[in-house]
Amino acid sequence: MIDVKNLSKTFDKKVHAVKDVSFHVDKGEVISLIGPSGSGKSTVLRCINGLETPDEGTVLINGKALDFSNPKQAQKDRTVMGFVFQHFNLFANMTVLQNLTLAPINVLGKSQQEAEATALKYLERVGLLDKKDSYPSKLSGGQQQRVAIARALCMEPQIMLFDEPTSALDPEMIKEVLNVIRDLVNDGMTMIIVTHEMNFAREVSNRIAFLEDGTIVEMGTPEYIFTQSQNQRIQEFLEKVL
Ligand SMILES: Nc1ncnc2c1ncn2[C@@H]1O[C@H](COP(=O)(O)OP(=O)(O)OP(=O)(O)O)[C@@H](O)[C@H]1O
Ligand SMILES: [Mg+2]
Repeated sequence: MIDVKNLSKTFDKKVHAVKDVSFHVDKGEVISLIGPSGSGKSTVLRCINGLETPDEGTVLINGKALDFSNPKQAQKDRTVMGFVFQHFNLFANMTVLQNLTLAPINVLGKSQQEAEATALKYLERVGLLDKKDSYPSKLSGGQQQRVAIARALCMEPQIMLFDEPTSALDPEMIKEVLNVIRDLVNDGMTMIIVTHEMNFAREVSNRIAFLEDGTIVEMGTPEYIFTQSQNQRIQEFLEKVL
């Protein structure tokens, strides 16, 4: 479903953030990207959804290469992907419901009624139906992130990309967000997750890629990465974070 081929990205001509990264994601697969800070995890995700333009390499979705040089096509291609960041990026001047219906109406051309019906469905799914008329500032961080996930789902994406969705949250709110993501996993959603929640990655991923210095050091099943890999960097990293 997703084919990342020989992706490279350099910033300011000297920071090689991503170096020749290739991997594929099958439909329904959950892939986690783990590794130390600065290893290129976010840059890989941002190249996949077109927030960054790679210097080299291609990203194919369902066999079709993304062409981000053409803004109109890029916007269309991007709608197959939902993206959830560390910071929720909700519009502060809009209610939860307005946040959720904005893009479906403006980008997908849905009617108000249709967009609201979808929004309410996903709000219920993330357990926040009662907050539909609230403004984001009245919600906890965990609730805001669940709204952000519902907002991404309202675009009916085929793929969800998460970049550290819980790392800005207080510990007691991490669980409620992970539960929402777990629910999507059980539903068969195709996902790429960048996370520092190692136990969660181990539990939900089909495969995990360990990145360092912009390259995938190893990629394998959670079982392999956590218990069998002989790679010293992986072992050191896991010792530090577990
Ligand atoms: N917009 C940018 N301009 C310049 N350098 C950047 C930019 N974005 C990322 N980098 C650099 O690219 C490298 C990879 O960064 P990236 O954010 O992808 O790492 P990461 O693995 O997501 O780290 P973290 O776990 O801290 O989020 C780092 O050296 C970073 O400083
Ligand atoms: Mg990052």
